[in-house]
Order: sequence, then C-alpha cells, then structure tokens
Amino acid sequence: MQLIKKDILDMESLSSDEINLILDTAKQMKEISQRPIKKVPTLRGKTVVLFFYEASTRTRVSFDIAAKRLSADCHSIAANTSSMVKGETLLDTAKNLEAMNPDVIVIRHSSAGAPHFLAQNTEASIINAGDGMHAHPTQSLLDLMTVKEAKGHIEGLRIAIIGDISHSRVARCNCHGFTKMGAEVILAGPPTMIPKGIEQLGVRVTHDMGEAVSNSDVIMMLRIQKERQKGFLFSTEREYARTFGLSLKRLEKARDDVLVMHPGPINRGVEISSEVADGPHSIILDQVTNGVAVRMAVLYLLAGGVRHVDAH
Ligand code: CP
Repeated sequence: MQLIKKDILDMESLSSDEINLILDTAKQMKEISQRPIKKVPTLRGKTVVLFFYEASTRTRVSFDIAAKRLSADCHSIAANTSSMVKGETLLDTAKNLEAMNPDVIVIRHSSAGAPHFLAQNTEASIINAGDGMHAHPTQSLLDLMTVKEAKGHIEGLRIAIIGDISHSRVARCNCHGFTKMGAEVILAGPPTMIPKGIEQLGVRVTHDMGEAVSNSDVIMMLRIQKERQKGFLFSTEREYARTFGLSLKRLEKARDDVLVMHPGPINRGVEISSEVADGPHSIILDQVTNGVAVRMAVLYLLAGGVRHVDAH
C-alpha cells in the first residue's frame, strides 16, 4: 500500500489503513534509530523546511532529527527570525519558500487552518505540526504507536484523556485517531474545559476523575494551556491538582497494568505529580522516542516515493 496524500493535515482525513501504514513504517524507522550509525540515504537530495510560528521542543527537534536520519537537507526557521516580523503574510512567506523548491514544509502555527491554507497554495507537501486548538496529527500518530507497542494492540482498549480538552489539539486528534483504530475514548475534566457536543466525535464525557482513572487501560493527562485560555476556567492550580490532577494516591485506583501518557510539556504538580510522571506506569519518554520514528515515517511516505494521486 502507498500513502496517496500530498499532505498530512489532521487525523480525520487519514483512513485506518493509512494510519496502519504509517505505524508499520515507523516501526521500521525506529530500528534505524537504534543502530550505531543512525542514518540512511533514503531522502538524499530532498529538502525539508521546518517553519515554526509557535514554541516547540519535542516536535521541532524530532522533525529535524528525523529528516537528518533520512539524509534530507533540513532547514529550520522561526517566525521571530523570519520576515514575518516585517509584516510578510503567511501566503507570501509560503510562495517564497516554495520558490526554493522544498519537498516538504512542516508548519506549526497559532491559527487553526493555517497548514490547510498552505496545502492549497503550494506544491510542496505540508505536514501540520500543530495549528491552534485544531490538530496535531503526528502527535496522535506517535501516541497510537506508543500504545500499540506497549499493549500489542489498540482495538478494544479504553483510553482516558483528562484535563484541558477545550484547548487541546492533541485531545481532538486522539479522539479521531483512537476511535478510528477501535479503542473507546473517555474524556474527563471540569465542565469549563470540555467543549459542548464533543460526544459527536464518538467519545464519552465524564466529570468524575475517579471513573475515568479506575477502568482505563491508558490515562493520557493534558497540560493546562494557560496561553490559550481566556478568563478563569478553574479557581486555583492547587484546587485543580486536587480535583483533576493525577497523583500517586489516585493512580492506586487504576488497573495494575495502566499506562500513563502526557504529550508534554508537563506542569509538574498541576495535572500530574512528579512521582507519577517519572514512575513505572509512565511511558511519556517512550512517546518522545517514537516521535522521531513517526516523523521519519511521514517524511519518507510523503517525500520518498512517487505520488500517484493528489488527494487534498
Ligand atoms: N507535544 C508537543 O507538541 O511538544 P512541543 O510543543 O514541545 O513540540
């Protein structure tokens, strides 16, 4: 099977077959990262541009490492050092980048839909590295890979996603990703942080943290996204931690084989305690490791072969 997409923009537009193809490819890519010489010539002569209009550690570095492990030429620009600070529009920026003939542009942007806009206006493949509160598909793919690796399967698992659902592109993407792969998704958090009607994505909602924790195979904690919140959605961080934080005491009510995940960055002591984040159930750093493999896979699948169908 071949990936027939020009771009990777969200999880809605990936079929379960395409997700499986990416995960299978990522598994092979992970093996490359475990070799003493972590480099193959697969994307030699290809050009990848990383354009990050918002802060990032994990996504940006892992795309950079992924491109270099595949021998692509990789160039990274940040908004604050680009000509966007002089008033250049996103479209003009994209057209000028395109004039240099890159094969892939990876973009993170604070506005939902910015990667889709670029995809419609450029020949290069666009990968969405996070757009506002909308989507972060490679995070969801690495989360799926990490759960599949740890549990052997995804179908039939119960995944609890807990915290600031409203502002989380990771939560939205994982609702699509995990349900598409046959898992049950339960969302938990204060009513002020769960958007009305999100059940339409085929997920269940609870405001009872205990219920979400006690019967789940995977608990994914989310960061409080203060930078996106308008107004007060909870009283104090201490109160939030007491009600919706994952402490050791609360984790004792979970299944013995529960997995704890977090996309990062972590607010230690707020949504998750250090004992849990660094404890035996945590697979948070496995998520980061698999981020490189997944990003190698999507770069390879978009830029490494002949594209048969242009499927926007
Ligand atoms: N998970 C994630 O997107 O992390 P960064 O913001 O550091 O890239």
